[in-house]
Amino acid sequence: AIAQGRSSSLMNFAALPAANSAGVMPSISADYQFDVLIPWGTPLQPGGPTYDGNPSTRPTSAQQAQQVGIGHDGMWFFPIGSGSDRGMLAINHEYGTNSHVLGKAMPGSLEDVRLSQHAHGVAVVEIAKVNGKWQVVSSNNARRIHGNTPVTFSGPAANSPLLSTPAGNPPLGTLNNCANGKTPWGTYLTCEENFNGYFGATGAWTRTEAQARYGFSAGGFGYGWHNFDPRFDLSNPSYTHEENRFGWVVEIDPMNASQVPVKRTALGRFKHENAELVVGQGGRAVVYMGDDERFDYIYKFVSDSNWRSLIARGISPLDQGKLYVAKFNDNGTGNWIELSIDNPALKAKFANQAEILTYTRIAADTVGATPMDRPEWIAAAPNGDVYCTLTNNTQRREANAPNPLAPNPFGHIIKWRDSNNHVGTTFTWDIFVLAQNTHRIDQSAFGSPDGLWADPDGRLFIQTDGTQPVVNGVQLNDQMLVADPTTGEIRRIFAGVTGCEVTGITVTPDRRTMFVNLQHPGDGDPNLTSFPAEPGSGRIPRDATIVITKKNGGVIGS
Ligand code: FEO
Ligand code: CA
Ligand code: CA
Ligand code: CA
Repeated sequence: AIAQGRSSSLMNFAALPAANSAGVMPSISADYQFDVLIPWGTPLQPGGPTYDGNPSTRPTSAQQAQQVGIGHDGMWFFPIGSGSDRGMLAINHEYGTNSHVLGKAMPGSLEDVRLSQHAHGVAVVEIAKVNGKWQVVSSNNARRIHGNTPVTFSGPAANSPLLSTPAGNPPLGTLNNCANGKTPWGTYLTCEENFNGYFGATGAWTRTEAQARYGFSAGGFGYGWHNFDPRFDLSNPSYTHEENRFGWVVEIDPMNASQVPVKRTALGRFKHENAELVVGQGGRAVVYMGDDERFDYIYKFVSDSNWRSLIARGISPLDQGKLYVAKFNDNGTGNWIELSIDNPALKAKFANQAEILTYTRIAADTVGATPMDRPEWIAAAPNGDVYCTLTNNTQRREANAPNPLAPNPFGHIIKWRDSNNHVGTTFTWDIFVLAQNTHRIDQSAFGSPDGLWADPDGRLFIQTDGTQPVVNGVQLNDQMLVADPTTGEIRRIFAGVTGCEVTGITVTPDRRTMFVNLQHPGDGDPNLTSFPAEPGSGRIPRDATIVITKKNGGVIGS
């Protein structure tokens, strides 16, 4: 574990004290400032239909398809030109509850379902700094990708019967887009997490082993889509296997609005948190991925050869490669176990590689992977260390070395170093920090780590989602902190509003502007906050992006 106590030369900003970290509006270090960008309902193009949070004038489903969605989560800024004042922002819209989006617990029509579906997915907007302020500008490549957008499959499972339905309906949509990744060839990766919650059953339905392992149930998470849209009805025999079309990593070209999003099956199907792509030994594309469920696993994908040579041959580096799952040994070593049909234990249970990729969780169960305390984001640091947030696990009864607390209400961050520049089959690991150990210092106290980003100087940005500690009598809001892994110092830089999660992180190339997201401010309850509107405005709270700059114009985090 890290040493704590030395002060960091990487961080020269005033910590945001706990006392100022509990408001109905965001708060930030005295050396920083913030602005609000693209709240839910912002038109994709200036002059388009706008939703302002008025509870009695909600958008139609057609309007929502032309607007920024809800549930802002992972995102990435793709610069246009060489400067740091214009680019495409690709942003995930993980979810919005019916009460928040529709203003009622259950949809009453197919139009209600479509509004909910169109609030989910991804937005790609063009933003620019105009007179010193970031805003949406008109664009040929702005677009919404939502629950009904045509998509396609690629990789080893693309043509599997497990991904087709008796109805012969085309694959549509991406859902519960949690966190993200980006590729060196300029595309955006969006990760489908809690997709099971959108499905339900209107009639008699018997869960398969695979449906049980992925958490499908007759009621889902209460969205009720299946009552009006048979595609989400698990008991409708015309749509058998429709649920297998979700749970993938999806590749989007942010510079080409006509590109059809591609679900990359070689990366496996589970509750994908993010997809941290690094270039490893031999120029191979390596993607680290967490499956966010209690007692689920950490994975990595390694392309078969150099990503540039594959692209030159017209092959996606994300279509040809090996998928591994992590086994953390108690002695600080680890193994990447390949999920291959050539493994006798898998050959005994699966018909082919496509089935392994579709039911990845069951394959990982079979080979003895290590159940973790909810793997969230993974971030690769420039020195080769890789970090993963393990957000919490209130149901752990037995501790082990990589998950040393039982129960684990505040979570921890683990780190590892691969034996061969990210393409090895072994690694060494250590606990970076137990969140509960940060609680004795005001400026570092946090819980439920989730979003994570390592900057090129080695700073680690930590974002939280969930239970935060009480410090000096103050119940902290979810927040963002900066860590110096060398000294172990952790310092709070930003706090969100009551009920929200702080998630998503990207910067302009000069790192003088950072974008982060406030997801589900007030948990959607206007009695808690009207953010970004002022308290008492009568507006329902809206998810939004926060633009962070340093008052002296410095690199964010410095
Ligand atoms: Fe969408 Fe695991 O967070
Ligand atoms: Ca998350
Ligand atoms: Ca979380
Ligand atoms: Ca979330």
